[in-house]
Amino acid sequence: MRVETLAHEIDIDGWRAAARRLRVAAVAPEHARFRVAGSGQGGLLDQIEETPVEAAAAPAFAVPKAFLDLAGEVILHRSADRFDLMYRLLWRLKDEPNLMRITTDRDVADALERAKNVSRASHKMKAFVRFRRIEDQAGEAWVAWFEPAHRVLEKTAGFFVRRFTTMRWSILTPDGSAMWDGESLAFGPPATRDMAPDGDAVEDYWKTYYASTFNPARLKTKTMQGEMPKRYWKNLPEASLIPELTALSAVRTTTMVEAAPTPVNARLARAVAPDARVSGSVDDVVAATLPELDRAIQGCRRCPLWRDATQGVCGEGPRQAKLMVVGEQPGDQEDLAGKPFVGPAGQVFNAALEDAGIDRADVYVTNAVKHFKHEPRGKRRLHKTPNAGEVTACRWWLDQERRLVKPKVILALGGTAGLGVLGRKPAVTRERGQPIALEDGATGLITVHPSYLLRLPDEAGRVRERAAFVEDLKAVRRLL
Ligand code: URA
Repeated sequence: MRVETLAHEIDIDGWRAAARRLRVAAVAPEHARFRVAGSGQGGLLDQIEETPVEAAAAPAFAVPKAFLDLAGEVILHRSADRFDLMYRLLWRLKDEPNLMRITTDRDVADALERAKNVSRASHKMKAFVRFRRIEDQAGEAWVAWFEPAHRVLEKTAGFFVRRFTTMRWSILTPDGSAMWDGESLAFGPPATRDMAPDGDAVEDYWKTYYASTFNPARLKTKTMQGEMPKRYWKNLPEASLIPELTALSAVRTTTMVEAAPTPVNARLARAVAPDARVSGSVDDVVAATLPELDRAIQGCRRCPLWRDATQGVCGEGPRQAKLMVVGEQPGDQEDLAGKPFVGPAGQVFNAALEDAGIDRADVYVTNAVKHFKHEPRGKRRLHKTPNAGEVTACRWWLDQERRLVKPKVILALGGTAGLGVLGRKPAVTRERGQPIALEDGATGLITVHPSYLLRLPDEAGRVRERAAFVEDLKAVRRLL
């Protein structure tokens, strides 16, 4: 038996090097084992003598990147045999190059399932970490205790850096700790629960938030436990409210019916009717006011984009606005500020509005998609275009903005906004500037997105396209 010792529980580099060594030495999986130094996991393995490998060296071979990515996830799984499983797959890949596509294969299915569990644990961490405020020599800092289902601290820490960039924080877990000082992220040793502070004003905030977003009409205990598994409850301040709120749900359901704004949509009415089969959620809220809509958007789970966003960004502007302008989605700065069009594209937009003689204060400005879709690139968050499913899911909120504001004219900035407004992807260049009769009686118009102007490579093109954009805005003004 050949035993390879890895430096720590998520030593992916160590595993890759050891697996390569074993593979080149043609050590079959049944003769190879992995153990983690100092984990006490050795047990029997410690008693097994390492036998020198006599087998002939195998020629090197390429491993698909997808396999290495998968290994990187599976190794975060808490199962003791995860390294062995991935080595078995690596071994088999040599003779079965398409193995990873055979999702019915036992080893492949097992690895995919473990990767899924790891990904789920990472999502739960994003949703359930609760910071408590402390004061230290340097001032305010935030500490959270969290027990992830798998070893996802390192994988998930970047999310908290992006979301809480300006705060100093630590996340303590039994596997290790992550510390952000506002500039750099460091990982430290495992922690225990008593190292984290208990209870403070932030807890009260979470409790209030949870109590106000808890919708008794959708009380499905099973689903709720799926979303907020019991294993996390002990560290969630708001979870202490669950038994009480559950008990009160019948009472609150009736109260909600009485308090329901009119007109309520049929779905909500069904959901809150006293004899209703439990259904509906914050996703199904039909808002009576714009602030109510904003609150509902904060709890939106209609598509997965909420997970990586700081907050939902609802539209902004007067309820009686005659003009509604719809952009694509909040950008990096909008995501942090919670307001639409405040970043670079917003500046281009504001200046063009001014040139067209439109006061932004009179305009209701919003987006087709309310959460920022992005991917990390170093410290930056790079914009990713929302897909049709995400735009369609978010039309629920855009339609409500249209119902509440009742604008005379709706201007869509670019193709994604056009999809949100029209329900079909417009050909922006061909349809630009042509009035379109919309179902709700408003007039729709399409033009380019201001960020298109920012991306144009040459000055002459920028001047020409900006002038055309201002002309489109002037045409809009004439329709008001
Ligand atoms: N781009 C958009 O489409 N919307 C914003 O709010 C910001 C940039």
